[in-house]
Amino acid sequence: MEVDEGVQATNDDASECKRSAVQMGYWEDKYISMFVRGTERKAPEINRGYFARIRGVRILIDKFLKRVGSEYQIINLGAGFDTLYWQLKDHGYKVTNFIELDFPTVTSRKCYYIKRNKTLLNEIYIEDGEVRFSATDMHAGNYHLVGVDLRNLVEVEQKLAQSEVNLDIPTLFIAECVLVYIETGATHRLLSWITSKFPNAMFISYEQVNMGDKFGTVMLNNLRARGCPLAGVDACLSLETQKGRFFESNWDGAAAWNMVDVYNAIPVSERQRIEQIEFLDEHELLMQLFQHYCICIGWKGDLFRDIDIT
Ligand SMILES: C[S@@+](CC[C@H](N)C(=O)[O-])C[C@H]1O[C@@H](n2cnc3c(N)ncnc32)[C@H](O)[C@@H]1O
Repeated sequence: MEVDEGVQATNDDASECKRSAVQMGYWEDKYISMFVRGTERKAPEINRGYFARIRGVRILIDKFLKRVGSEYQIINLGAGFDTLYWQLKDHGYKVTNFIELDFPTVTSRKCYYIKRNKTLLNEIYIEDGEVRFSATDMHAGNYHLVGVDLRNLVEVEQKLAQSEVNLDIPTLFIAECVLVYIETGATHRLLSWITSKFPNAMFISYEQVNMGDKFGTVMLNNLRARGCPLAGVDACLSLETQKGRFFESNWDGAAAWNMVDVYNAIPVSERQRIEQIEFLDEHELLMQLFQHYCICIGWKGDLFRDIDIT
């Protein structure tokens, strides 16, 4: 239980870092401050790291959106206080169904923030005017937020059914810094379940890589010391082990890039803009961090075959 608390706290960390970078002007997100109060300024390499993560994931989300028609679904696993739903709405996307899952302790806080914030609530696309809240879950139009332990597949299935999941439409799964906290066997069961149920699916996972080298070992020890062991670290040894996780659970294909490559895939004009925001002294450290994080995608069915970051 204590370990789970350490894992849940990683959401506060991620949300604070995102807010810090947004405040500095790295990217726009008018919603993140509705979930996290003011926070101290983070180091430039942290802000840049988050910029690369957010932009890299977004490039791939946009590729998914380009390949689908008018009916599609997004399922964010371990969503924390992510604001993608509202951002897509602002950009004119009408997602058929958007489902967020996280531990009940995290979703209950997110429910609370949404409930008391008119902007967040009013922007949810509610056709029938009905919003249902429980302590940990909310169901409103095309937006569903549900509390569940992703290691418990029976419950995951139940919660998705309550969220009107549609197995027949193209579906994007996102897990941003999540699978690394889940035991290898449980992730294998989750990924296998997804491929057995969703004929057209794409999965975007962002997390650590090269965890077997010296720098990776120091990162692991730091996280352990903060009460947060990486139970799924076996898949984070290389880009090959990252892809292997998808191949071993019957996905049709997979690709993976470290964050150096992801950063280079971001348009030059955007990189130039953010590189002028603040002075970066620790260039070497940023490169090492970039070499120790990656984005891996998996696809099932022909619709998302061979999607590339470039
Ligand atoms: C580092 S945070 C990232 C949050 C969000 N994806 C983001 O990028 O801002 C990891 C999230 O995964 C969630 N998580 C980890 N293991 C989980 C599990 N077994 N079941 C449900 N949620 C889990 C945590 O509670 C936390 O919110």
